[in-house]
Amino acid sequence: MGMRFPLSQPSLGPQEAANVRDAMASGWISGTGRYVGAFEDALACRTGRAHVTAVSSGTTALELALSALGVGPGDEVLVPALTFAAPAAAVLTVGATPVLCDIDAESWTIDPGAALALRTSRTRAVIAVDLMGHPCDYARLAELEVPVIEDAAQAHGAETAEGPAGGFGTASVFSFHVNKTVTSGEGGAVLTDDPELAGRVRLLAHHGMSADRRYHHTVAGRNGRMTNLTAAVGLAQADRWDELVAGRRAVAALYDARLDGSRFRPRPALGGASPSCWLYCVTSSDRDAAVARARGGGADARAIWPALSDLPLYAPYTPRPCPKASEVARTALWLPTWAHLTPDEADGVVAALG
Ligand SMILES: Cc1ncc(COP(=O)(O)O)c(C=O)c1O
Repeated sequence: MGMRFPLSQPSLGPQEAANVRDAMASGWISGTGRYVGAFEDALACRTGRAHVTAVSSGTTALELALSALGVGPGDEVLVPALTFAAPAAAVLTVGATPVLCDIDAESWTIDPGAALALRTSRTRAVIAVDLMGHPCDYARLAELEVPVIEDAAQAHGAETAEGPAGGFGTASVFSFHVNKTVTSGEGGAVLTDDPELAGRVRLLAHHGMSADRRYHHTVAGRNGRMTNLTAAVGLAQADRWDELVAGRRAVAALYDARLDGSRFRPRPALGGASPSCWLYCVTSSDRDAAVARARGGGADARAIWPALSDLPLYAPYTPRPCPKASEVARTALWLPTWAHLTPDEADGVVAALG
């Protein structure tokens, strides 16, 4: 609030406004309407997925994917120890038990070897978070032989040799929260190639009501729908996907150049991966002092999340120590990042950082 350089801001153009006006004028402002289907189609195109369900948030998407896979009480779900908390919370919400797993030191994504060591007869799924735009090692995660849910909330536009983020695993999810690369304000999606799984997601998101028999409920569902107004914004953003992804990559290049040789080191990446930039992230041994200096200078730099394994709520779900997650959580910070941040603004942020 009141910072010269906010952590993030959306890039909203005339098409977003025109779509919202059109949706308003049509009277279709709830979870039914042409923008919802059009947004789902755009996401299917982007990721190569056969089935997409737009929903009210990334968290809802995770809960629906877990429920549709039949994950519930008595089941364990592997979750990386370093992530925004939503994946672990979603596991608890469906009544299952999250099992926190350490990260790989290079990619900062879930360590497949550590995950294999934590697998038990009760392991029913793994949520693989493409952390800060870096895709997980899906080939190795397949060795777990449980369904993989790719959490691509922070990875719009990331790719590997096997394809785009959002296309991996049994199901994948996006978030379109306002700080994401492609946004609808609030919003999310569940994507899959499995028609039956897609049908269950849709059923659960639509009150558990049979698609062809009104008020005939076959399961206790919820209302997880995305509104047509929200999808109107999302569709305009999806049409600008390449521009929004390239914009953040360009900002990362600006910061890389300015911080080259400084005590701030860019987050590592594995060779071969083509990560996207969500929020530009660096590490520094004097992280907390750097954040304080930057904020004093008007740049909303932030310390990243604590490792979930270090939070009292989630520590009991940590069967083995997660030192790599703790180390990154102690040293990493984000710098202000949005699609059209200018070279002058990057200079201003770096000057504030000291
Ligand atoms: C990795 C990850 N998963 C899930 C979510 C939840 O998405 P939402 O805020 O749309 O519920 C977020 C962030 O918001 C996230 O960063």
